[in-house]
Amino acid sequence: MSDYHTLGGTLRKLWPGEVDAFKDHLLRLDADARRLRFCGLVRDQFIEDYCATAQRLGTVIYGYFIDGVPVAVGEMRALYDSQPSEAEVALTVEKDYRDLGIGTALMSRIIRSARNRHVRRLHMICLVENIRMQQIARKHKAQLRHMQGTTVGELDPPYPTPLSLWLENVDDNSGYVSAAIDAL
Ligand SMILES: CC(C)(COP(=O)(O)OP(=O)(O)OC[C@H]1O[C@@H](n2cnc3c(N)ncnc32)[C@H](O)[C@@H]1OP(=O)(O)O)[C@@H](O)C(=O)NCCC(=O)NCCS
Repeated sequence: MSDYHTLGGTLRKLWPGEVDAFKDHLLRLDADARRLRFCGLVRDQFIEDYCATAQRLGTVIYGYFIDGVPVAVGEMRALYDSQPSEAEVALTVEKDYRDLGIGTALMSRIIRSARNRHVRRLHMICLVENIRMQQIARKHKAQLRHMQGTTVGELDPPYPTPLSLWLENVDDNSGYVSAAIDAL
């Protein structure tokens, strides 16, 4: 497999002002990718409404940016009223950038963010045919089970450590700089 590092992009968090870039990324997905992402066909309006909730508390979004444009996104959304805290993870990588390890890298960042926020369980849901997503989940030690045409994955992030907190902080600092450069 080729490696996304040769693309020269940047993996960083999306900041609140970048919701439109997130929305544009999802709108660029073709019908099949939208179906895989949302487990069903969705129209543009659905994506617009979905992105309007992207700044809710408990949401963390990472993107892989090329020339300031996110071509891949990993999202963690907290599941409300869960005690202890649980969250859902979803990934999208635009067609030309798949099978380069970007989805795997986004998943690792999301798991670290979940860990650092004391999320005790991460859920992933995808269609049974979605081999790539299942492979990524398996590589991160998720337990998978098949249910009525979908595959449900669950993994329990470890507790945070000073190192895991520090590493996210370091990435955030370089991410701010990249975001500022992208905004120029
Ligand atoms: C699922 C998705 C995010 C994966 O992103 P990606 O960047 O291509 O993923 P990666 O390159 O990190 O990993 C893909 C893995 O699938 C494997 N894979 C790809 N095609 C495969 C196939 N036909 N059979 C078995 N494994 C396959 C790759 O070898 C790789 O595994 P490896 O790293 O162990 O070799 C991307 O395909 C996507 O956006 N799909 C549409 C939206 C979607 O399905 N989202 C998930 C909803 S939760």
